[in-house]
Amino acid sequence: MRLVRLECGFCHGLRLTGGLGGPLTAEHMRARSLAYLQAVILQGLPGTAMPGWAPFIRPDEASWIAERLQEGFPE
Ligand code: HEC
Repeated sequence: MRLVRLECGFCHGLRLTGGLGGPLTAEHMRARSLAYLQAVILQGLPGTAMPGWAPFIRPDEASWIAERLQEGFPE
């Protein structure tokens, strides 16, 4: 949770409502599939500033983050 708040928040906003990267709010995340979110977290989005996190985050952790984002990430 701390990694998401600090590292992801650096680009997506401390409240994850968007900054350099778009909003990671439940409303936006529910419009995406879990498989897509997990893939973006692990591999990044080529052509954007979104880095791949595979060196730091395991696939099961990426799934956990994706599920939490769809529910509204815990404080
Ligand atoms: C260096 C800046 C940066 C960091 C750090 C970063 N992102 Fe991103 N992220 C972006 C950018 C830029 C995009 C693509 C543009 C957009 O979605 O607005 C993006 C896109 C995304 C998307 C796709 C959004 C969509 O609507 O399709 C997800 C999901 C995402 N990031 C999750 C994360 C998570 C989780 C972390 C932390 C593990 C993270 N990001 C860290 C910059 C960053």
